[in-house]
Amino acid sequence: MENGRFGERKAMEILCALGDIFGADRLVPISSAHVSGVSYKTIGDAGIEFLTDMAQGTRVRARTTANPTAMDRQRWKEMGISDDFAQKQLEIVGLYEKMGVEESWTCTPYLAGNRPSRGDIIAWAESSAVAFANSVIGARTNREGGPSALASALTGLTPRYGLHIDDNRKATVIVEVSSPLKGKDFASLGCVVGEFAGDGVPYFRGLSASESEMKSLGAALASTGSIPLFHIEDLTPEHKNAVADELERIDIGREELDEKAEELGTEEEPDIVAIGCPHLSMEELKDLAGRRMKKRKGTEIWLCTSRHVYSQARGLLGQLEDIGKVLCDTCMVVSPIEDRSRVVATDSGKAAFYLPKFCSQEVVFDDVGSLMRRFL
Ligand code: F3S
Repeated sequence: MENGRFGERKAMEILCALGDIFGADRLVPISSAHVSGVSYKTIGDAGIEFLTDMAQGTRVRARTTANPTAMDRQRWKEMGISDDFAQKQLEIVGLYEKMGVEESWTCTPYLAGNRPSRGDIIAWAESSAVAFANSVIGARTNREGGPSALASALTGLTPRYGLHIDDNRKATVIVEVSSPLKGKDFASLGCVVGEFAGDGVPYFRGLSASESEMKSLGAALASTGSIPLFHIEDLTPEHKNAVADELERIDIGREELDEKAEELGTEEEPDIVAIGCPHLSMEELKDLAGRRMKKRKGTEIWLCTSRHVYSQARGLLGQLEDIGKVLCDTCMVVSPIEDRSRVVATDSGKAAFYLPKFCSQEVVFDDVGSLMRRFL
């Protein structure tokens, strides 16, 4: 390997070390990568230094998308972002683009053109996207960190261990859901199950869910727990062979869901209502636009989505902007929301879990419809 290709050599070192730790038998080719570690708020100047080193003479060898940045790249001034902060964020974006990473900046790469097929071997960071790719699509990825996903992008390889192996994709616990779910219930269910299932693989019975609802469920499972994969009976692609042994069973009903929802939120007045964690899908944007609501109160409303979905939603933007700001490339957790807000309202279990920890925010947790009625 040429001396100038520092990034590629470093990437191989990272993957070999990871493979040694987890007992991988070999490196295998990937069809796509998705990297995290993009927001200047989360990676800081040390992250810029790391990316500068990795970008030396190196380009990605597999299709690669990337997580949200700390700001909408076009509306950052409206978000109250300073010039200095924006410059640093744009430097990070430039470094990823120099390596050949697509202009994606979303946690839902599977809604932005990087959608693998069932059985594909991939190396994705971003825990919510990992849960979706493994569970809803049936692709195969471990729960990569930012550096290991970037290392896989730069080499086109990942160590074969963990969820790349059939036996590790079996269920570890059966969850009987005894109440019909709607709205925020999917996020509450994910938060409850994430807490006790740890890094296991839950198998849900009695559950029906749309793709957007599974997106919400998976994100919550991956935040209160480290769950990288779930199965839903008669729904997700690998459910048929997922239960191999006699497993522990737990029942979740209305009482547990409502208790969790109460625990996640407060009754304070929000400064910002932020919808779109994970980033809103076209289906969700259509639903919001179809409500034909107009903002009347002073509360700021954010609708977070990917630029890819935004570009497909042009016909809806008038109705959506009547509700609030449609923001791309960013979200309520990885932007410096704490500089202008103390209380955020959301329908997301993942955001409700992380906003207090990473952004010093109080949280109001409710369904999208209720939030719109209360604060629009
Ligand atoms: Fe995505 Fe931000 Fe939520 S990265 S999953 S919208 S915390």
